[in-house]
Amino acid sequence: MKILLIISSSVGCYKALDLIREFQKQSIDYEIIATKNTFEFISPLLLESISRKKVYSELFDLDMEKNIGHIQLARDNTHIVVYPATANLVSKFAQGFCDDLALTCMIAANKPIYIAAAMNKEMWANSLIQKNVQLLKDHGHHFIGPDDGSLACGEYGSGRLVDPIEILKQLS
Ligand SMILES: Cc1cc2nc3c(=O)[nH]c(=O)nc-3n(C[C@H](O)[C@H](O)[C@H](O)COP(=O)(O)O)c2cc1C
Repeated sequence: MKILLIISSSVGCYKALDLIREFQKQSIDYEIIATKNTFEFISPLLLESISRKKVYSELFDLDMEKNIGHIQLARDNTHIVVYPATANLVSKFAQGFCDDLALTCMIAANKPIYIAAAMNKEMWANSLIQKNVQLLKDHGHHFIGPDDGSLACGEYGSGRLVDPIEILKQLS
């Protein structure tokens, strides 16, 4: 198993560090992409030092693109997992946007993607988001969660990021 982990800028993105630790414990190979906004929450240094990997974020990366790196990242894995997935990323993916590295790899991928959405309960309930979720499901992509529970914003409802262990259960 080799996982391409895509991290986006939900407040729950700190849990991606625990998911990376689980990959390491279970000797699962992985590569990481983070959206640029993720670095507002967790630093590239923290992500790289915990993961011991280069964390890719730039689409127009001269070194990487010598070998058309974004296509290689999209292909060289057995599973693609978005953990956490923002409302923004879910909607742009559903509509076929590719204006950053994460989205370009997701659109260039040749397999279903596992998406763990995390957002405020009203965002998750918003019919625009739900329509995009349904569109992605109709295209064969998998949603893992979100769970019901207490949310970072202090509210209670559906939108909570599933625990890392849930991701590994769904992939095995
Ligand atoms: C404190 C804070 C917490 C946020 N948490 C979430 C969240 O849990 N889920 C979500 O969809 N967006 C959340 N956002 C909004 C996203 O960061 C924003 O929509 C961003 O443009 C998404 O960019 P990305 O999808 O490229 O990472 C949050 C923003 C802030 C400032």
